[in-house]
Amino acid sequence: MIVFRDVSLVYPNGVRALSEVSLTVARGEFLFLVGSTGQGKSSLLKCITREVRPTDGEVEVDGQALSLLRPGDIPYLRRKVGVVFQDFKLLHNKTVWENVAYALQVTGARSRDVLRRVPRMLDMVGLAHKSKMFPYELSGGEQQRTAIARSLVNNPLILLCDEPTGNLDPQTSGEIMTLLARINAKGTTVIVATHNQGIVDRMRRRVVRLVNGRITHDEERGRYHVGLG
Ligand SMILES: Nc1ncnc2c1ncn2[C@@H]1O[C@H](COP(=O)(O)OP(=O)(O)OP(=O)(O)O)[C@@H](O)[C@H]1O
Ligand SMILES: [Mg+2]
Repeated sequence: MIVFRDVSLVYPNGVRALSEVSLTVARGEFLFLVGSTGQGKSSLLKCITREVRPTDGEVEVDGQALSLLRPGDIPYLRRKVGVVFQDFKLLHNKTVWENVAYALQVTGARSRDVLRRVPRMLDMVGLAHKSKMFPYELSGGEQQRTAIARSLVNNPLILLCDEPTGNLDPQTSGEIMTLLARINAKGTTVIVATHNQGIVDRMRRRVVRLVNGRITHDEERGRYHVGLG
């Protein structure tokens, strides 16, 4: 589903964010990307959405080499790849319903499909009863659920989460992870970049560790401190 072949990334200012990263993520996998701050987690995720282009090597998503994409192909890539961030990035002047619906409407979806899919997504994340609320009326966990519903409404193959529990308390973080695991169980490939040791250690999923832009460890049923003793 996702393949990195010897990917290196040097930003224009000369910072080397990734070095010779090779990684294969199969369809339907759930993977934690760990590593302390500045080690390259977000940069790796941005290669998958083609927000950044590697300096060397190749990234493939769903069988497609991203270096060969033309600008007109990028919206199709972005529809395959949902993204969830630490700070939710919701539209503050839109309700929960409208935030989720908007993600569909910008792809040109018919209103019949919007009316069918939005409630289904809100149900799945447990927010059907808050659909008329605005983001400022929601808890952090509810805002993150809204963001997850929004990123899933286009039915992406892959869900990338960059520190999705960074602003949440431990209990709420656990609930968000349970939700992501449920989404994964339905077939979506999920990658979660995180510092949240408690969650990684509890879930015992595949753990890939980045140190200084290099993959130092890759373990099935790993722990946060994989390879660090
Ligand atoms: N747009 C950019 N231009 C230049 N350097 C960048 C850019 N984005 C990130 N970097 C640098 O690349 C390196 C990797 O950053 P990245 O954001 O991928 O780390 P991270 O593991 O996600 O860190 P964090 O846990 O703090 O989110 C860092 O040295 C960072 O300063
Ligand atoms: Mg980051």
